[in-house]
Amino acid sequence: MDYTKIPNTAFVLDEQLLRNNLSLIKNVQDQAEIEIILAFKGFAMWGAFPIVQEYIKGATASSLYEARLCFEEMKTKAHVYAAAYVPDEFEELMSYSSHIVFNSVAQFNHYYKQTLTAKHKISCGLRINPEQSDVEVDLYNPSSPKSRLGVLKDFMPEKLPEGIEGLHFHVLCESDSYALEKTLIALEQRFGDYLHQIKWINMGGGHLMTRKGYDTQHLIQLLKAFKKKYNVQIILEPGSAFAWETGVLTTTVLDIVQSRGVKTAMLDVSFTAHMPDTLEMPYRPKIVGACNPDSHSKFVYRLGGTSCLAGDFMEPYAFEKELQIGDQLVFKDMIHYTMVKTTMFNGVKHPDICIWTKENRLKTIRKFTYHDYKSRLS
Ligand SMILES: Cc1ncc(COP(=O)(O)O)c(C=O)c1O
Repeated sequence: MDYTKIPNTAFVLDEQLLRNNLSLIKNVQDQAEIEIILAFKGFAMWGAFPIVQEYIKGATASSLYEARLCFEEMKTKAHVYAAAYVPDEFEELMSYSSHIVFNSVAQFNHYYKQTLTAKHKISCGLRINPEQSDVEVDLYNPSSPKSRLGVLKDFMPEKLPEGIEGLHFHVLCESDSYALEKTLIALEQRFGDYLHQIKWINMGGGHLMTRKGYDTQHLIQLLKAFKKKYNVQIILEPGSAFAWETGVLTTTVLDIVQSRGVKTAMLDVSFTAHMPDTLEMPYRPKIVGACNPDSHSKFVYRLGGTSCLAGDFMEPYAFEKELQIGDQLVFKDMIHYTMVKTTMFNGVKHPDICIWTKENRLKTIRKFTYHDYKSRLS
């Protein structure tokens, strides 16, 4: 990608890098003889769906709108899981769904009869909590015993209610196959009896198979063995893995301010509005040509977001040269969980959405205007 050809400010997806990830994911799918679907909550840039569909056919949705997006733009019915369903939306939701997973037995009991009235067959499932995860950040750990997500073993009926064809768990986040292996052991210990009663099991997301060093052969062996043992169809629904390291967010230095020995480069992007995980999780995004400062660093700057939130900044980075107003900064790996989470807080302008094509051309998919901001508020 030639950053000099990218106008600021923009999310830019690199088509070739996306294709590399898709090809790896499809390979795992084919070798393990399972189904891998895209979790929209992590990546829903539908302008890129024609590329995604060359490799992967399905998607998982966590709301009515995601399910509709799947139906309209992936041209297929979605696997749906939501923490709780809204009565007014359920009828429409069914029309976009092939599978519906319930977060509690009560929700299943409430809606099961309605699913039988749908024009097509809907396969119902139940989300369970195997209480085993390698996720250390509480905000991203759905498997704690007090979690509201998924039924604990103690609250399971002895036999699965009639109509439940599948089980679903999601307890991993940016994890490797060895974390999944541990989860499967806990799953068998706690829910082993039910595994012979189901047609399919959805092992959620968090399988970061496109990260360098991920042992995909181990994953494939694990899944094959599980499938053989229980004779079930396996579904994985990663989000991050699809868009992992597939693009950037570019920005410009608008000003440089000083206060008590701290220099801050003010940018035309916002951490809270455009990269919320950097503050929520929190994590430090990687920047082209910058690193963490040490005692030898000469050109050290905090990076300030454009909103008025006091905490909308990143602690200092060291640069190779003095920053100037008008310089371009490039944040790496800014495609998954960014666009899907952005806001227009403060009325800040949303970055353009672009694709850097495999023919090395910049294609702008979307520019945002005042009307996008205004239309959300009244
Ligand atoms: C139920 C469910 N499935 C799939 C995913 C996708 O996970 P990831 O993007 O970490 O692969 C999530 C993420 O929160 C989730 O909650």
